[in-house]
Amino acid sequence: MPHGADRHDVAELGLARLGREQIEWAAQRMPVLGTVQERFRAERPFAGLGVGACLHVTAETANLLRTLSAGGADVSLCASNPLSTHDDVAASLVADFSIATFARRAESPADYSAHVDAVLDRVPALTVDDGCDLVARLHLDRPAQARAVIGGTEDTTTGAVRLRALSASGGLAYPIVAVSGAATRLLADNRYGTGQSTIDGIVRATNILLAGARVVVAGYGNCGRGVAERARGMGASVIVTEVDPLRALEAAFDGFTVMPMESAAEVGQVFVTATGNRDVLRAEHFAVMSDGAILANAGHFNVEIDITALTELAAGQRRAVRPMVEEFDVGGGRRLLLLAEGRLVNLGAADGHPAQVMDISFAVQALACEWLVQYAKELSPTVHDVPAEIDGAVARLKLATMSLAIDELTAAQRDYLASWIG
Ligand code: NAI
Repeated sequence: MPHGADRHDVAELGLARLGREQIEWAAQRMPVLGTVQERFRAERPFAGLGVGACLHVTAETANLLRTLSAGGADVSLCASNPLSTHDDVAASLVADFSIATFARRAESPADYSAHVDAVLDRVPALTVDDGCDLVARLHLDRPAQARAVIGGTEDTTTGAVRLRALSASGGLAYPIVAVSGAATRLLADNRYGTGQSTIDGIVRATNILLAGARVVVAGYGNCGRGVAERARGMGASVIVTEVDPLRALEAAFDGFTVMPMESAAEVGQVFVTATGNRDVLRAEHFAVMSDGAILANAGHFNVEIDITALTELAAGQRRAVRPMVEEFDVGGGRRLLLLAEGRLVNLGAADGHPAQVMDISFAVQALACEWLVQYAKELSPTVHDVPAEIDGAVARLKLATMSLAIDELTAAQRDYLASWIG
């Protein structure tokens, strides 16, 4: 990070106008968050509080941060993934919205780390994390500072898994709400958002025709379900791999072919990992894949595809063939194509989730921050679920913005459901 960059470190402030256009475009598609923003502006629930965020630096994130700012927060931001940063958005956050932003697209691991520190140097009272890097650094390097934090939110499944491990070890210093577990969020973000944008990333990177292609989806969780469903919708024939028998059964009942990766590797043409686990695609699988196989990851970290093994197999025979596509010549006339360096393909090679999806996720996030400020003193320093009232409120608001109405229970129906007599 350049010297003197205590308020920001972005690639090019001159990109701010372009960034502002993106942010405003997204804002028009985020009416639920807009409603929350207006209320926050009036009620100022974060007046005087610092918020440190480690999130994908996108136009949608910018609107979350504007919402927290409207509520009185002093917000700072670093990237939760070096490839997902939109430099124009980062510039606009600094120039137009006075948000201390430390993020450059494709920043080095050293800069990524320095930017996390830059946010922590501002001693936030609330943390808003995506993947647990900010919180992990705080707990490892600054335990005293961690104990002074009021509360935090975690945006993704993988981050929540790390936090639960930290909590189980007794080491979590303050309460954190796992926003990733909210019902509205699992539906909109993991399933429909990841489903559409992962396919979008693969198509943008390769311009492949999915109709007739054999697509292998590893993991049939919320994300995997969405990817498998959308790939099928594009005419692909989809194979699912799983380690959980229930999820595998669900995939089979949903009409997908289920088999171990060992077998799928031999027949697949496009591979998408969405497990939150490591080494899902590894040397033994690369060894049997056919020429031109496409490898993409939708899971949070770039550990699902064993890139070290792929690199060793190619013995230096690798080259960039298109933006976000690297070809590994693994011998025997076989070239495997790795997308977005094995990082989240929907953010690296496409725009991430549509704003309408992030409207839901970030409305939950904003309301969870408000809830934390209200109740932090009563909460144990563990991982907490999103309160059901927040889920219900966001779903209602979203339906209203879609001009959709639902039925109300009659008094007799409410009594009937509350009675055990029948
Ligand atoms: P989930 O826990 O609902 O599903 C993961 C599934 O993978 C489980 O069914 C599990 O049994 C399966 N699995 C684990 N190891 C496996 C292996 N070796 N082979 C095959 N299957 C395996 O998790 P969810 O919500 O679907 O998230 C998956 C990943 O995607 C996480 O890393 C999460 O952070 C990330 N994520 C990515 C998003 C994006 O924009 N790309 C959005 C939301 C989450």
